[in-house]
Amino acid sequence: MNDKILITGASGHLGGGVLANLVNLLPPSQLVAAGRNQDALARFSNTGVDIRTMDFDDAGSIEAALADVGTLYIVPTAAPDRSEQHRRVIDIAARSGVKHVLYSGVIHHDEHGFGPAIADHQQTERHMATSGLQHTFIRNGIYLDAIPMLLGNALESGVFAYPTAPHGVSWAARADLAEATARIIADPKHHGKVHQLSLTHAVDYVALASILSTLSGRSVIHQHIAPQAYEQVLVKVGVPAGLAGFLAGLADAMAQGVVLQPTHELAHILGREPLGMADVLKADLARQ
Ligand SMILES: NC(=O)c1ccc[n+]([C@@H]2O[C@H](COP(=O)([O-])OP(=O)(O)OC[C@H]3O[C@@H](n4cnc5c(N)ncnc54)[C@H](OP(=O)(O)O)[C@@H]3O)[C@@H](O)[C@H]2O)c1
Repeated sequence: MNDKILITGASGHLGGGVLANLVNLLPPSQLVAAGRNQDALARFSNTGVDIRTMDFDDAGSIEAALADVGTLYIVPTAAPDRSEQHRRVIDIAARSGVKHVLYSGVIHHDEHGFGPAIADHQQTERHMATSGLQHTFIRNGIYLDAIPMLLGNALESGVFAYPTAPHGVSWAARADLAEATARIIADPKHHGKVHQLSLTHAVDYVALASILSTLSGRSVIHQHIAPQAYEQVLVKVGVPAGLAGFLAGLADAMAQGVVLQPTHELAHILGREPLGMADVLKADLARQ
């Protein structure tokens, strides 16, 4: 009988957080932790969940992992060919006994042309929609936890150089996204829908710089740089060309307001105010 719920990326931050919340919402014997890194999956070894190896590049491992699974939650990978990987997983799910697939993409408008950071999610969602499986789209705000990666040397130089997003960006703490996603998976009333999970208000980079200044005690200002120039800066400091293009595409999409749909849904599902930018950055700075 296909009654298991399998969580991919359970070895990582988002999927691991989803599963850590799910074990408090559903019987652990119903849950499966999947990933490639068995050492990282070992954190679930005493929880009663089943632990399985599943590599999106290995069809055999996907088929074996899905044998008794009825609900599949997919965490996107960061591979350059991830939309192909996701397509492979969805196709195999559709011909095994899986009935429902959920996927965590990113908040986006439905227009095309905003680089792979957005297009990969659009392609995966389209494939889910035509798969014949019940499908639930979870569209996440940009991780507040990712801000340190965007800052470059802003804390030392006092300048956060990044393409301006005039109306701000929809952000969310990854821990909150994980908790809300677990609630979506566990409760059928959330299934078959599009969920937009973010803070209730957009935050722009001027406000971000101001929060950084307050928390660090050092003056930081935001300065606009064109997306193409930003890409060249990344390449100059050694970021591989493919990743630089990906990050510049994301910056461009945010600048154009594609990742801008603040909603109350995250707060509603959590039943509390989500963590804000200052909460997450404060914890980040304390760790540095
Ligand atoms: N919304 C945002 O702002 C934002 C920011 C950054 C990233 N993201 C996206 O969100 C995803 C999850 O974020 P995260 O912080 O949880 O990342 P993470 O900690 O790096 O986790 C990524 C997970 O993907 C799994 N994975 C990678 N390649 C795989 C493959 N070939 N087959 C099966 N599993 C594979 C990894 O499993 P193993 O380690 O076991 O291989 C890992 O568990 C990222 O992969 C990225 O697509 C979103």
